[in-house]
Amino acid sequence: MVLSDAGDDRLPPLPPLAVAVPDAGRRAIAGEWWSRAWAERDGAARYDRLHRAMGAAHGPPNLLEGCERAAADERRHAVLCARLAARFDPADPFADRPAPAAPLGPAGLDPRARLLYEMVAFVCVTESLNAALLLETHDRATEPGVRAAAHALLSDEVQHARLGWAWLAYSAQQGEVGWLAAHAPAMLGAAASENLTSPEVFCARWSDATLGFLPRDLRVAIFVRCAVEVIAPGLARFGVAPDGMLGWLEGQPWV
Ligand SMILES: [Fe+2]
Ligand SMILES: [Fe+2]
Repeated sequence: MVLSDAGDDRLPPLPPLAVAVPDAGRRAIAGEWWSRAWAERDGAARYDRLHRAMGAAHGPPNLLEGCERAAADERRHAVLCARLAARFDPADPFADRPAPAAPLGPAGLDPRARLLYEMVAFVCVTESLNAALLLETHDRATEPGVRAAAHALLSDEVQHARLGWAWLAYSAQQGEVGWLAAHAPAMLGAAASENLTSPEVFCARWSDATLGFLPRDLRVAIFVRCAVEVIAPGLARFGVAPDGMLGWLEGQPWV
């Protein structure tokens, strides 16, 4: 991971660390932001691939531009997250983990359906949740560096989620999208696995929202609220019934 950000004036300066953090806390916060840096690298590669798929599908130029911009945003986010993580622990546990941006969805989808699946799963669902979690991180964090980083990421992630909804709207004009309803529980389940039930999050014994490390019960509350108030109505608006997804959510032991 290259930490240099020379020449990128869109990266905000990070103020000096304002509070003392215990060792366990340093490791937890570093793990959180190194993990996010990896996810941003993976996201950049994914947006690159989605951009190519949009071009092949002759998508609207403004959405292609939005996707290209999202890839650049994620590359910038990766640098910022790594800079923040390194303040707490310079060792990146994800340094050797590839970021393959593996295609999402079941086998057998044609390229256009695969593109739509990924735009909904990764962009509408995951980016909406990202934005909701970042908003809470920003609002609760009192540490200036964490606040600055969360603020810088937040506005971009909101734009990314909008790109996903715009692609779903465009696709709904082009043809039938209701088939996505059967896959919505799996999409939300994948996002839950990343944000709530991964071993890293489950095993965290330390949390401090003032440093941007949200406790798990708060993450769950944000996740559920976003699924019910943002994702479900968004899907329904374009003809993707959210009932199955909401039923799946109600049945989860962590809700
Ligand atoms: Fe990002
Ligand atoms: Fe994003």
